[in-house]
Amino acid sequence: MEFIDLKTQQARIRDKIESRITTVLDHGRYIMGPEIPELEEKLAEYAGTAHCITCASGTDALLLALMALDIQPGDEVVTVPYTWISTAEVISMLKAVPVFVDIQPETFNMDPDQLESAITPRTRAIMPVGIYGQCADMTRINTIAARHSLPVIEDAAQCFGATHRGVKACNQSIFGCTSFFPSKPLGCYGDGGAIFTPDQKLADKLRQIRVHGQKIKHDHPLLGINSRLDTIQAAILLEKLAIFPKECEDRARVGKRYDDMLKGLPGLEIPIIAQDNTSVYAQYTICVQNRDKLSQKMKAQKIPTVAYYTTPLHLQGAFGGLGHHPGDFPVSEQVAARCLSLPMSAYLTPSDQKRIFTALKQAISESHP
Ligand SMILES: Cc1ncc(COP(=O)(O)O)c(C=O)c1O
Repeated sequence: MEFIDLKTQQARIRDKIESRITTVLDHGRYIMGPEIPELEEKLAEYAGTAHCITCASGTDALLLALMALDIQPGDEVVTVPYTWISTAEVISMLKAVPVFVDIQPETFNMDPDQLESAITPRTRAIMPVGIYGQCADMTRINTIAARHSLPVIEDAAQCFGATHRGVKACNQSIFGCTSFFPSKPLGCYGDGGAIFTPDQKLADKLRQIRVHGQKIKHDHPLLGINSRLDTIQAAILLEKLAIFPKECEDRARVGKRYDDMLKGLPGLEIPIIAQDNTSVYAQYTICVQNRDKLSQKMKAQKIPTVAYYTTPLHLQGAFGGLGHHPGDFPVSEQVAARCLSLPMSAYLTPSDQKRIFTALKQAISESHP
């Protein structure tokens, strides 16, 4: 069994992907070919935003959004410590300061109750993350941000396709950023990402920054980077996007099946999806005691599991300069010590899930200290 099954999806649409790739090989416009605007239009339509700007990765999507806001050294950007390193890395790359806010124990997303006290006169943006497939409480985060006239950059690398109050991820705030890393709910066959915005001026600026700050050829009014999505990846994504809505439904079904199987199991907490949210279950993540022992026992039964973010960002060496200590963000630390993600994909069958359930039940009974 694979942790994330990408093969079944490929077998389903391989001929279409090959045909799309062949088209790119035939027209030869590997950089910014016609598939790029076609994809951007379709992605914007899917997310419900006015503009989509594709780029080279989810990390770059966040970086480009910060650059579009002219984030300067010493500026503060409020985010969470329980996330993939990219979220805070891009803030530090601009010599700005990531200011962490702890997460909610239920959703593992930014705790809006703790947000306001992290805002200072130096705060320039708020960057919540939609971890494991569901949006943060964007309603409350946007309200607090608006009170302080701060822009919100939604890191939706893991929750593209999910909704909050019926609105799609990436369409919650002034910027929505996502990743097309292969294992993401909508993934390509390499690196890729996108930024979504309702604002025409910011969209124009992002398009410039994505290509070395270039307005027209050899005219660079801004400093930028090289962060274009490859045409071949756009071609692949066009076919994957065509089946993505159905895959999101299937992911929800797989998540529900896990819930139904696991909810009675002692010693285990199943994911909680907030009432206002739907989830795309980028990961199906449970919390357990003796996580590492349990994971080993699952491995022995040939069931792959992964513990993500076992060290929250405030305790990572890369952010040592921020001067944080164990205990600073207790919920993040507790979740980091107990979380375990189970195999997940739109194509996980009921019989696979039954196998996982049986293995998990046995592993839990054997893993008590
Ligand atoms: C929460 C989060 N933010 C940002 C990223 C960065 O995306 P990428 O790997 O495409 O650079 C990821 C990807 O792993 C992620 O999970």
